Parts: sequence; C-alpha cells; structure tokens
Amino acid sequence: MTIDLDAASAALRERLGAEPFEAALVLGSGLGGLADAVDDPVAVPFTALPGFPGAAVAGHAGRWVGGWLERRRILVQDGRYHIYEGWPPELVCAAVYLAAALGAGVLVVTNAAGSVRRVFEPGTLVALTDHLNLMGRRFALLRNLPGEGRMADLTEPYDRELRRSAAVCARELGVALEQGVYAALSGPSYETPAEIRMVERLGADLVGMSTVPEVISARTLGVRSLGLSLVTNWAAGIAPTPLDHEEVVAMGRRTAGTLERLLRRIVRELPRA
Ligand code: HPA
Repeated sequence: MTIDLDAASAALRERLGAEPFEAALVLGSGLGGLADAVDDPVAVPFTALPGFPGAAVAGHAGRWVGGWLERRRILVQDGRYHIYEGWPPELVCAAVYLAAALGAGVLVVTNAAGSVRRVFEPGTLVALTDHLNLMGRRFALLRNLPGEGRMADLTEPYDRELRRSAAVCARELGVALEQGVYAALSGPSYETPAEIRMVERLGADLVGMSTVPEVISARTLGVRSLGLSLVTNWAAGIAPTPLDHEEVVAMGRRTAGTLERLLRRIVRELPRA
C-alpha cells in the first residue's frame, strides 16, 4: 500500500484550514466522547482522504475533528487504524504524519489496555513511561516520509516534560494517574495467560494492541508523545472471566469522563511552541 502523504495532508489542510494545530489527540476504544467537545469543529472522515479506507472496529468512528479545546488548536483523531485489523504499518503511521504535517508538535495517544500488573484495577488511568514493541513489525517505514530510513531515538519515547505536566494536572484534579510500561502485541485475539506471564516477566505493566506504531512514528518525525492508558480489564489469566471487546469498550465509556477531564487540563497546559 502506498499512500500519497502529500496529497492526503493537502486534502486534510484544505478541509480543516491553514491554521496550524498545536497538538493531535488520538482517542482509543470507547474514548471518542472528547471529539464532540471540540469548539468550532470541522469533521473529516478518514475516507475523505485519498488512499484512506474507513476504520470499522466497534467503538471507533474513524474521523478527524479539527478545532479548539481549552482555547488550544487541536486535531482530534477519533478512531484509528490498527495492526490487528490487518492494515499495513504505513497506514497506521500515516495518521501521525498528517498531524505533524498540519503543525502538531505534540501527540497525545490514548488507549484501552489490560492490566498485567495486578495493582492496576480496571478503571485506573496510567501515563506510559515506556513500551515493549512485541508487534513483530517495524514502524515509520513510510516510503515517502522525510524521516524514512532514519533510526529514531527511542530513549525517551514518552516525553518527560509532558509526563510531568500530566502528573501535575492529575494531582490538581484529584485524579489518580499511575505510571507504567505498555506492551503492544498485534492481536487481533487477546493474549493467552502464558503470554501475559511472559510480558509481565519482560517488564510490562499493561498490555494492548495499539499506540506503539504511532509513538514510534511521532519520534521519527520529532513529535513529542504522551501516552495515556485506561485500564479496561484484567489481562488474560489474571481474573477467571474471559475477555470481551464489548466489555472493554463499555468500561472505556464508563471511565471516559475522568480521562476527558484530565485530557482537557493537559491540553490547557500544553507547552507553547
Ligand atoms: N489485551 C490487549 N489489548 C487490550 C486489552 C487486553 O487485555 N484490553 C484492552 N485492549
């Protein structure tokens, strides 16, 4: 799959206007509510851009919403392309390229995740400190990406200053925000109990099927990332109950309000470029 990123970013800019965005916000499963809170919103479905197919997983709308949040110029990506849907890495990464092309110097990525470390109960919010790419793929290999071929430095995949700011925002709001390492597997099935024991031994606190492609792409492009996970379930084998995508989405929806309050505050406090 080859996507003409120049054509796609020109088309998106045409729809959303020339004013650059300060940050892009990627909303994960069941977390799309914030897209409706954007002021002066302009919505662009993924499919409106040349080469972009519709994202069709339950809980994912598949659109960009450009506008203002807390008086900051924000591009919200409501829904995303997942490796587990069979989309090629270059498509998953393309959305980050577009955000960068439209000026965003910060990427805030949210996701739903399973709790590997037993202290993170469902409903817990976690700021990512690091990740394990166990997706079996390399990312940021867009053929027409300016940074293509560059070996992105991932010493600090999740920006220290943004994490500190998120912690301050959470404290001010009285919201508990933990810190943890996210292991990304490619899915589409949930993990086995043995796989969860494996990632636990490798140092993971959380497990999920997204975020890592976007964050690696962001780092390749020099965009600073903040990753926020909402723990929606115990990872496989930790609780006796089986995992169910509908329940993951429902848990996301139940706790989304708190995450949205935190995101608003984080956006308000974003560093000025
Ligand atoms: N595993 C993988 N991805 C997930 C999970 C999980 O337990 N919960 C939400 N996304």
